[in-house]
Amino acid sequence: MDVVAPDRGSITEQGPGPSAVVAYATLFGTTEHVARLVAQTLAEFTGRGVQAVDLAYLDVSTLADHDLIVVGACTWNVGQLPPDLESSLEALGALDLRGKHVALFGTGDQIGYPDTFVDAIGVMADTFGGTGARLVGRWPAGEYDIVASRALVGGEELLGLALDEDNEPDLTQRRVASWVAQVAAEAGFRDRVSI
Ligand SMILES: Cc1cc2nc3c(=O)[nH]c(=O)nc-3n(C[C@H](O)[C@H](O)[C@H](O)COP(=O)(O)O)c2cc1C
Repeated sequence: MDVVAPDRGSITEQGPGPSAVVAYATLFGTTEHVARLVAQTLAEFTGRGVQAVDLAYLDVSTLADHDLIVVGACTWNVGQLPPDLESSLEALGALDLRGKHVALFGTGDQIGYPDTFVDAIGVMADTFGGTGARLVGRWPAGEYDIVASRALVGGEELLGLALDEDNEPDLTQRRVASWVAQVAAEAGFRDRVSI
């Protein structure tokens, strides 16, 4: 496995395409791994570098510099947020993101926690609701075996992408590829970058 230096949250990008960033909160590293995959995949749609940054080290006001802000988090302790997201929520909710797009993903365990699966996505959606951003990247709930989730909307959709590395790691790459393409299209990136 490659050893990657921890990203302390500096955001530097170059190039003429739309700007995107991926911020994440993790406890044991799964969400960081997925965030890096999302950033790498997203870079193909923006035509410029996309960084995955740890919320623990990030000045969240810098997120507003981007056209698309992707935020991912695990759900912990039966429906609880990871501490680095919990402590950033107020600052995230206070951002002025009018004209920007926000997309959310969550890591979780649908077998162990079918009543609180990826609840963090729902909490984050509430948080960003007051920022003026347009939330993109809803995902079908039907492909998961769950009872309830704060991320569920209308019974059939999740407010972001759910990734279950505990039970379905083999599906993560395909889910990320498909979701990132959807998010890029919903954010209008296809019109702005010749792919
Ligand atoms: C004690 C404990 C509680 C958990 N609670 C939930 C939960 O309520 N909902 C959920 O979807 N996943 C839950 N999970 C699963 C984690 O979200 C999942 O393993 C995730 O990939 C961990 O991400 P991380 O490595 O970035 O911390 C829980 C895991 C543990 C060990």
